[in-house]
Amino acid sequence: MVTGMVRTLIAGNWKMNGLKSSLSEVEKIVSALDSHADEADCLICPPATLIVPMHERAGARLKIGAQSCHPEAFGAFTGDLSAEQLNDAGATHVIVGHSERRSEHGERSAYVQEQAHACLRAGIVPIVCVGESFAQKQRGETKDTVIRILRKSLPTLGSSDSLVVAYEPLWAIGTGLVPSADEIAEVHLTIRNLLIELYQERGASIRILYGGSMKPTNAAEILAIDNVNGGLIGGASLKADDLMAIYAAAVA
Ligand code: PGA
Repeated sequence: MVTGMVRTLIAGNWKMNGLKSSLSEVEKIVSALDSHADEADCLICPPATLIVPMHERAGARLKIGAQSCHPEAFGAFTGDLSAEQLNDAGATHVIVGHSERRSEHGERSAYVQEQAHACLRAGIVPIVCVGESFAQKQRGETKDTVIRILRKSLPTLGSSDSLVVAYEPLWAIGTGLVPSADEIAEVHLTIRNLLIELYQERGASIRILYGGSMKPTNAAEILAIDNVNGGLIGGASLKADDLMAIYAAAVA
C-alpha cells in the first residue's frame, strides 16, 4: 500500500521477548515475505541479543532494528549500546521514546531528541514514539499532548530525510483497546501538519505509524486511515503468522 507518496512500514517491536529459539519465526517471516507483493516495508526490532543472528537471516526484504540507543557514540556507559554499534550489528532503524522507556527508564523528550540525533549521526532511521495517557485523553488533551511531546522529541533533520514517527496512545498499548478511526485520523493529521511545519515538503513523506493493539483483525481498517503509513506492532509481531497477516492487509 502506498498512501500519497509514502510506502507503508509494518514494524514489529518484540520488546523483551525472544530467545535464539525465536529465530524460527524470523525464518517464517522471511519466506512469507517472498509470497507477498513487495509493496510495503517490513521491520522487526528484536532485543539487542538477536539483532546479529536475525540480520544474518533477514534476506533482502526484512529489515532489522533496535529498541533504544545511547546518545553518545562510545565510552564509559555500562550496559548501553550506541547507534553506531547498532548500525554495525545490522540495524537500520531504532525505536526511541517508546512509552515503556519513558516510564521505566525516565527517558524524557530532550533525551529522546538526543537519541534521534545519534541515530541520524550513525546513519540509522529513528522511530520517534509519542502518545497521550488515558487521563490526558479524558481531559481532551490528546492533540496538545502529542504536539508538545513531539516538538521536544523530534530531531533537527539537517540534510537527512530519514525519520519515522509512531503515534501510540499509552492506554492502547497491550490492552486490546484502540481509538476510533476518526480519532486516529485526527491525531495523524495533526502530526502531519506539525511535520510539514518543521520540515517543509519533506514532512509530507515522513511515515507516521499507528501503534497500540494493532492486530490481524483491525489492521486493514487502521491502515486505510489517511496519514497512517504503517504500524508499530508489539504483541501481534511475536508470531510470524500474525505479523504476516498484518503485512498482507498492508499490501492488499
Ligand atoms: P502492542 O504494543 O501492539 O502490544 O499494543 C505496541 C507497542 O508498544 O509498540
